[in-house]
Amino acid sequence: MSTTEIDRQWTTRLRRRAAGKLPPEKLLPDTQPAYVASWIYVFGVTTMAALMIVILTGCVLAIEGPQWWHLSTIGHFVNSLHLWSVEIFFFAMVVHLWGKFFMASWRGGRTLTWMTGVVTFLASIATAFTGYASQSNFDSQWITTLVRVKGVVPPFADDKETAR
Ligand code: HEM
Repeated sequence: MSTTEIDRQWTTRLRRRAAGKLPPEKLLPDTQPAYVASWIYVFGVTTMAALMIVILTGCVLAIEGPQWWHLSTIGHFVNSLHLWSVEIFFFAMVVHLWGKFFMASWRGGRTLTWMTGVVTFLASIATAFTGYASQSNFDSQWITTLVRVKGVVPPFADDKETAR
């Protein structure tokens, strides 16, 4: 087979493209840029770790139901794990967000990374609301009433209702 024929093969082209994007010498590097030694980089990973616990404990709560998380000791425990991992998640995410903001991390072709973060941030707030609303206690009644009657979140306001 001639060199030009080899050059034209899709396998050759794909291999060259992959090697161009991810050169083997850059995969699993043994050194890192000096700026990565900053503590601020810990917060992205903390957010991710907290999110995993949030999802795991949230699934257990959803499977077992409100009776279980209100009345049983183990239910209280998993509920607390869920609440505190959510607190850590939001705290770490906001520190991470400000860290990336002050480093202007949307530069250098990272616009989509930043935009993914924006979407994640908004989605997290909406999801946290569903968690508050499904607690099945006075807190959840109060927070849903605030949203509906007082119009804390304008699209969900009910003009016909008056605050009591
Ligand atoms: C579920 C929430 C989030 C998780 C789990 C998460 C996780 C991470 C992780 C692990 C990194 C790499 C390590 C680091 O730079 O700290 C990272 C980088 C980044 N994150 Fe997040 N993040 C979240 C939310 C956000 C938000 C809300 C923003 C901003 C609106 C954001 C913007 C960025 C940017 C721009 C980078 C790239 C930084 C760079 O290339 O130096 N992230 N994220």
